[in-house]
Amino acid sequence: MSTRFVIDGGRPLQGAVQVSGAKNSALAIIAGAALASEGVSILENVPQDTDVATICLILRRLGVELYFDGQGRLHVDGRTLNKHQAPYDLVRKMRASFYTAGVLLARLGRAEVPLPGGCAIGSRPVDYHIRGFSQMGADVAIEHGFMKASCQRLQGAKIYINRSSVGTTVNLMLAASLGEGVTTLENAAKEPEVVDLAIFLNGMGARIRGAGTDVIRIDGVEALHGTEYAVISDRIEAGTYMLAAAITGGKITVKNIVLEHLRSPMIKFEEMGMMIEKGVNEVTVSAPNGLHAIDVETSPYPGYPTDLQQPLVAALCLADGTSVIRETIFDRFRYVDELRRMGADVKVERETAIIRGVPQLTGAPVEVTDLRAGAALAIAALAAEGRTEIYGIDVIDRGYEHFEHKITGLGGKIIREHTTEVTDLFSHMQELNA
Ligand code: UD1
Repeated sequence: MSTRFVIDGGRPLQGAVQVSGAKNSALAIIAGAALASEGVSILENVPQDTDVATICLILRRLGVELYFDGQGRLHVDGRTLNKHQAPYDLVRKMRASFYTAGVLLARLGRAEVPLPGGCAIGSRPVDYHIRGFSQMGADVAIEHGFMKASCQRLQGAKIYINRSSVGTTVNLMLAASLGEGVTTLENAAKEPEVVDLAIFLNGMGARIRGAGTDVIRIDGVEALHGTEYAVISDRIEAGTYMLAAAITGGKITVKNIVLEHLRSPMIKFEEMGMMIEKGVNEVTVSAPNGLHAIDVETSPYPGYPTDLQQPLVAALCLADGTSVIRETIFDRFRYVDELRRMGADVKVERETAIIRGVPQLTGAPVEVTDLRAGAALAIAALAAEGRTEIYGIDVIDRGYEHFEHKITGLGGKIIREHTTEVTDLFSHMQELNA
């Protein structure tokens, strides 16, 4: 059985929406909590999306005890971590599962973790992670689709990360926290989620300085202990709801956000005609005079985030004029074919999308290609005239907590439906052979 969203568009979204905890932070922090050999960590503001479920289930298979209590706080007890082989069936679902490699090497001195495969947003290698582990003294081999690594205790090292990479920065911070001596990560990623992890690890007893700058210095410690921590709010989810307000011609207050984390997107949103009233931890967003075309290039933080490229393109489909969007991080334009099915006029040339605004989008059956594409198609559907059926929505559940409930709370018409879609073609062969 698979599920789809059925969205009846054309209603301006109104009201307030509470942003959840940042998925990308939570994934790193939950993995980090497993570094503790003393005490239990209690994590607040953890979004209950399926990527979080994946990291929790992997850690559980490695021996870690975790559960959500009655108040939605996640308890993580890393003391029982005792297995070093991460299961392929779960790891293959999510690239951030590779964070277990840094944790296992640091805690057990051994890690066997499947290499994350290709995915819908193009090739996403982990060569920088692996090179970092080697530079810290691990013996690393790639065998039968697994990274197999072992070490006595990881040694501090000076590591230059070729391209500012969030995942590499996170994984090496996790590993180096329990290493011997000083590790410096040069050209480190500066994303808020990296800073969030550093603050959390320091709360566990780690000694990390410089997170949020190009150079992070980690003084390894002998052991880490559990702590209590609240994950930052999700800037990508926040940006998605801001764009949803604009594209539907509505007005939404987006609550529980860190405005500073959304600086670049908000500059671009204002340039395209959105009105943003800024409060302390919230913004109220509308686009009373419609949207205008803009040019944007994605780049690492503090630049415009690649994770908000797709929802932005959806909004620009209805803007006045021609926009040019250059994607510099991932191969992330496959979803554009689906937007075209809804009447969008988008042309893709290599890493650039050229979007000619149209007066209206129309509902159509569409398929989600990746997480942020799912969000883009959903907000396009909310603005479109008529009904859109979005297939493959389990991908949206990976990173948007309670998506349809939040949209319904804003007056959008969206339902989750089980489909009778043919998924097992093999079993249908019998009908053909009759
Ligand atoms: C993280 C985010 C993802 C976001 C991305 C960029 C998480 C769980 N995911 O992904 O939502 O879109 O940052 O902001 O936090 N690269 C290599 N070799 C490596 C590692 C990366 O070539 O070993 C390349 C990637 O292919 C990509 C670039 O470096 O072109 C940046 O990737 P990276 O920042 O590592 O992305 P993720 O950590 O996977």
